[in-house]
Amino acid sequence: MRRMTRRTGPLAMFFKGFLKHPVMVGSIIPSSDATIAKMLGPVDWANTKIFVEYGPGVGTFCRPVLKKLPNDAKLIAIDTNPDFIAYLSEEIPDPRFVPVLGSAADVRRIIAEHGAEHADYVLSGLPFSTLPAGIGPKIAEETAAAIRPGGAFLVYQFSPKVHDFLAPNFERIDHAIEWWNVPPAQLYWAWKD
Ligand SMILES: C[S@@+](CC[C@H](N)C(=O)[O-])C[C@H]1O[C@@H](n2cnc3c(N)ncnc32)[C@H](O)[C@@H]1O
Repeated sequence: MRRMTRRTGPLAMFFKGFLKHPVMVGSIIPSSDATIAKMLGPVDWANTKIFVEYGPGVGTFCRPVLKKLPNDAKLIAIDTNPDFIAYLSEEIPDPRFVPVLGSAADVRRIIAEHGAEHADYVLSGLPFSTLPAGIGPKIAEETAAAIRPGGAFLVYQFSPKVHDFLAPNFERIDHAIEWWNVPPAQLYWAWKD
């Protein structure tokens, strides 16, 4: 395992992941610092116990989330790619960090297995518009059911089409564009009122 870290930095690891599963990864460049700061800006960290991330890849968001997360909280990071999960388990030895090999569509079962009824926030970097048919709507529906009232689904995407997945499940959706990203990112905050 340790050999994988010495050989492969996060960018190379991400690129390898893209070459192996281009449709599932959906991007060849990880998110920018500006995207991360803007996306996480509205999070009420003091009242966060369970933060879930879908599609963490090589952990571009995991580290900034862990910097802000209270000591007694958990970051549950769910990815379908076993290479990314093995890489994250090795690279981020933080007791609050829980990398899980699985699908975002099973979020409610996964958080229940970690002793939680609800998530405070769910962050997604999933390529919604290229996921297999039916998966995007299912993930949006399961996520809305998993988030507590007052929490939010934070979504960054290249395509504004993701709004179509969010709209049936969330009443209030804020939107912004982060131009300092390759390509520019559409950001959505879908609130559970
Ligand atoms: C665009 S990459 C995310 C990149 C990273 N979060 C960043 O900020 O740079 C999309 C990720 O979603 C993962 N993925 C695809 N389908 C998934 C699913 N159904 N559940 C969880 N992860 C999934 C892929 O393996 C990949 O790691």
